[in-house]
Amino acid sequence: MATLQAIKYNDGQLEILDQLLLPESCTFIPIFNVEDAWAAIREMKVRGAPAIAIVGCLSLAAELRKLAAPDTKEELCRLVKEKLDYLVTSRPTAVNTQLAAEACVKLCTQLTANASVDVAEAKDAVVKSLEATLADDMADNLAIGEHGASAIMKKTATKDKIRILTHCNTGSLATAGYGTALGVIRSLHKASKLDQVYCTETRPYNQGSRLTAFELVYEKIPATLVCDSMAAAAMKQFKIDAVIVGADRVAANGDTANKIGTYQLAVLAKSHDVLFYVAAPFSSIDFQIPNGQSIPIEERPHSEMTHTGSIRTAAAGINCWNPGFDVTPAELITGGIITEKGVFKPDQLAPPQ
Ligand code: MRU
Repeated sequence: MATLQAIKYNDGQLEILDQLLLPESCTFIPIFNVEDAWAAIREMKVRGAPAIAIVGCLSLAAELRKLAAPDTKEELCRLVKEKLDYLVTSRPTAVNTQLAAEACVKLCTQLTANASVDVAEAKDAVVKSLEATLADDMADNLAIGEHGASAIMKKTATKDKIRILTHCNTGSLATAGYGTALGVIRSLHKASKLDQVYCTETRPYNQGSRLTAFELVYEKIPATLVCDSMAAAAMKQFKIDAVIVGADRVAANGDTANKIGTYQLAVLAKSHDVLFYVAAPFSSIDFQIPNGQSIPIEERPHSEMTHTGSIRTAAAGINCWNPGFDVTPAELITGGIITEKGVFKPDQLAPPQ
């Protein structure tokens, strides 16, 4: 069965599946420019580290396609940098947009220095590179799925079928398609190795119960929803073989920021002797920061905790703490970091040459 497609892009026309309306309704909304993308990302109509960067890049591509080429390549560079800098401010923790912006600005600078390229050609080259992010991410995810599934199958070779626990949403809704951690789970299912996947509810925003559960039901992957507070009991009772999660930003030493609640799962995995994997493309690895302490953690509105939809579920007046992410120390990532280039122990990560 085809996986869900949450980002549609054709000839400068960009549409995204509005994830705020899931699971009740599948509604696509148009994104015409970077302002639309910034707002959709900030409001979490699209979320998930790779998807945020892709929608940002495609929104700029869509905008540039409609624009007459500026007078000079320097002007083009300035415009592109300004728009990308703005997109980077939409959400702070995931690094993917920042890395995509740096690569695009580098390309602009190279094109500017190349006297044989005129401004219209430079604009086309920038648009092409921004548009390539969609197919590139899809290819990365398929490779992550393959590397992850084969590494996990090797580790669990004595078992016929295995049980996996995952957190948040890392699937087609969070990427160009297929997914990272959920991609590995898809690949395990395709290989008939998956007995059951347990997906956490992922409070407070419920990416697990709203989005991951939606994808798993859509694809008929055997799955069970558990509340976050049931993770320890589930590990023990169901003899979970591995936890696989995604990443918003991996630091150079392998410390990994991901959805709040990931850290506690890693601690629990250690004490239950369960393998813990992070699945993420190199576009989520920030080699410029030494460790997780430097990762900015987004603080989310308190209403996500105090209300379910418009219904108040917490006592009025209570103080709240609502970080969107936490950092899992590298030493707890016992299985490894599954990337499109293979599976690495956290201390084996190295920048691509
Ligand atoms: O706040 P969200 O929903 O954007 O958080 C998403 C996550 O934490 C994902 O695990 C991460 O971005 C990886 S998505 C492939």
